[in-house]
Amino acid sequence: MSRTAVIRGIGAWVPPRIVTNDELARELDTSDEWIRSRTGISQRHIADPDMATSDLAVEAGGRALKSASTASVDFVIVATSTPDRPCPATAPSVASRLGLGTAAAFDVGAVCTGFLYSLAAGAGLIAAGTAESVLVLGADTFSTILDPVDRSTRAVFGDGAGGVVLAAGAPDEPGALGRFDLASDGEGSDLITVPSGGSRDPVRTGPGRAAEAADPYFRMEGRTVFRNAVERMAASALRVAGARGWDVGAVDLLVAHQANLRIMNAVADRMRLPRERCAVNVDRVGNTAAASIPLALVDAMDDGTLRPGHRVVLTAFGGGLTWGSCALRWPDLVAG
Ligand code: UT7
Repeated sequence: MSRTAVIRGIGAWVPPRIVTNDELARELDTSDEWIRSRTGISQRHIADPDMATSDLAVEAGGRALKSASTASVDFVIVATSTPDRPCPATAPSVASRLGLGTAAAFDVGAVCTGFLYSLAAGAGLIAAGTAESVLVLGADTFSTILDPVDRSTRAVFGDGAGGVVLAAGAPDEPGALGRFDLASDGEGSDLITVPSGGSRDPVRTGPGRAAEAADPYFRMEGRTVFRNAVERMAASALRVAGARGWDVGAVDLLVAHQANLRIMNAVADRMRLPRERCAVNVDRVGNTAAASIPLALVDAMDDGTLRPGHRVVLTAFGGGLTWGSCALRWPDLVAG
């Protein structure tokens, strides 16, 4: 029987500080009513100023390892758009802080699709025999790249981390990852971007001038992204369900990237999936970028909407543009 990656453990973590819509409305020209009705978000968790993405990833990673009852893996993959530093990658420091010795470690940059891309990379390493086990994490602190005066992004994004432990198993086991559907469209690279600070528009320095970047903040063309997200996630989710031989009625839970409740509802409607079969925690955590899917999975396990044996479809859309999906039967796990 062919060798397949199977989910053996899961964990997630959000920083304790909660910022409500009312708190944002005291600083910005917005309101609880606007944010709730346009996004479904009531609050988000925001990292303290001394916390970096690796700090969140270590918390989530420790929980995922505990859930898998293991203290070692061969690879650590961290999906993030907010690495601790532009160089080196964040994953090696996460690996060493988790006591994982000299495990191979690298970052994946696919913004809000990062967790799914990383899951596919980890599954491929296992299927090829390069690894027996992989810790796949999605971790982001978008609060560190948001423009303090941009109400459209500050209303949406929150910080968090989550991930899974993958190990070699059989394709018919619960937790086995099936075929992935992954894609990108670089024509849309300006729709979700941090314009400056990279090689296209580096940080400038000059005699007597402090180093500065022209626009170091995260920018998003919300309306265009919204439309693309709905179309891409719905079509991709249907493809992976179809590849498993599941019609929509057989899908127990859709775990979509928690970008906006209106987007998730529109994806469900387009798929003709009852809205109640969508995992939702965006109201409590906002859009946590690469952490979004594992955080939603853990919350759905906690509230009983996700149970062992369920047919689950994961789908995400994000900057790049990138998008993708994966379908699996949920394994019997206790979150770490
Ligand atoms: O995670 C990766 C993928 N990301 C997404 O999928 C996010 C996709 N986009 C969205 O979720 C939504 O587009 C947003 C939540 C970002 C914005 O909602 P929208 O309903 O698309 O609003 P809009 O951008 O079309 O703006 C409508 C109006 C504008 O005012 P004018 O120009 O009509 O006067 C905005 O300035 O709403 C205004 N606005 C706000 N008003 C109050 C934007 N943000 C806010 C705010 N409070 N926080």
